[in-house]
Amino acid sequence: MDNKVMKNNKILLVDDEEGIRRVLKITLESSGYDVCLAPDGETGLKTFADKMPCIVITDIKMPGIDGIEVLKRIKNLNPETEVIVITGHGDMDLVVKSLQYEAADFITKPIDINDLESAIKKAQDRIVISQNIKSYMDDLEILVKEKDKKINESETLVTIGQTIAGMSHAIKNIAGGLKGSSFVLEQGIEHENQEYLKQGWQMMKGNIDKITKLSLDLLNYAKTTKLNLQLENPNKPAREIMQLMNHRAKENNIVFKLTPCIEKRLVLMDGEAIHHCILNLVTNAFDSFNKRSTQNQIKNVNIFVTIENNAIIYKVQDNGCGINDIIKKSIFNDFITTKGMNGTGFGLMTTKKIIEEHNGEIDFKTEQEKGTRFIIKIPIRSKA
Ligand SMILES: Nc1ncnc2c1ncn2[C@@H]1O[C@H](COP(=O)(O)OP(=O)(O)OP(=O)(O)O)[C@@H](O)[C@H]1O
Ligand SMILES: [Mg+2]
Repeated sequence: MDNKVMKNNKILLVDDEEGIRRVLKITLESSGYDVCLAPDGETGLKTFADKMPCIVITDIKMPGIDGIEVLKRIKNLNPETEVIVITGHGDMDLVVKSLQYEAADFITKPIDINDLESAIKKAQDRIVISQNIKSYMDDLEILVKEKDKKINESETLVTIGQTIAGMSHAIKNIAGGLKGSSFVLEQGIEHENQEYLKQGWQMMKGNIDKITKLSLDLLNYAKTTKLNLQLENPNKPAREIMQLMNHRAKENNIVFKLTPCIEKRLVLMDGEAIHHCILNLVTNAFDSFNKRSTQNQIKNVNIFVTIENNAIIYKVQDNGCGINDIIKKSIFNDFITTKGMNGTGFGLMTTKKIIEEHNGEIDFKTEQEKGTRFIIKIPIRSKA
């Protein structure tokens, strides 16, 4: 595979100071970039939609739509865009905020051209890595089409390629998050600022949680060993999740309930693996309230455990945003995430794999803005 260069070398610069726009345009153009300019946030967002640059440089303090809002909206439109923010000297609060909203880097005023070029270079490197992963995937797909006789082998290659691509992307995001949090922590230590220390630590903990979840997903996905089937009470993994997630439910004002199965019966299952599946579904249910439109309603997440027709049924139901129509068909098979840096798209793939290993099925019903219900059905085995 040849390493690719960036698809476009367009940079959008949003700054309300005409002098800065003029000087940076000349400097960046002389370094070979194609520079578009915008004097305010609103024009910046329109130009972004029109030109789709890979890199955006935005001033933070601007009248009207400010730089943080520009950053948030651009990340929403295309999470892959690298956004570099320009801050005033000593605007640490804004730097911390922009890193929390996944700015790639920041530079302070007065702008040092070397700092700016090195920030752009780092952003470009990250873009090239993402593009190379994508082109690796495309190459593999071509390979599959070409090799009629070796379909099975090629499909395996594609699956491996997809797994590596998804993993690399997720790890890249977490590494970016860790870098941001360690910067905020360093600032806290340097300025003896408790607030930065707290924020940095929160960011760091979030990233540790993400990497822990990713490694568990990967372990479960890659596991070739057989299930560890034991006689279990089917309520047990659901009760464990209630305990584990209760704190997060309270923090986010989510009414979180379990309706356990009343039939006292032990069944053969891999309790740890089923725990992991319910955790994935409940985490998704909690995340379904993150969209603004669901903020004023009572948020409910319910787990139901029943035994019906000789099968254990787990239902995880939320009244959150519902699953996007476009991704509905692929959520079990592809690394699909609508959570930008906060998701890997690996959760449901792993969950489905575990359920199928139990000879079970997983399905869902969803309605936009009304909510989603995932249903897992595992036939009860008489022996291992
Ligand atoms: N209960 C739900 N409500 C709304 N959308 C959901 C729900 N469950 C899944 N989704 C959608 O399906 C996508 C894929 O889910 P999946 O669990 O595989 O990955 P993820 O949650 O994005 O990342 P992670 O790997 O951290 O789990 C989510 O990004 C989300 O858009
Ligand atoms: Mg998930």
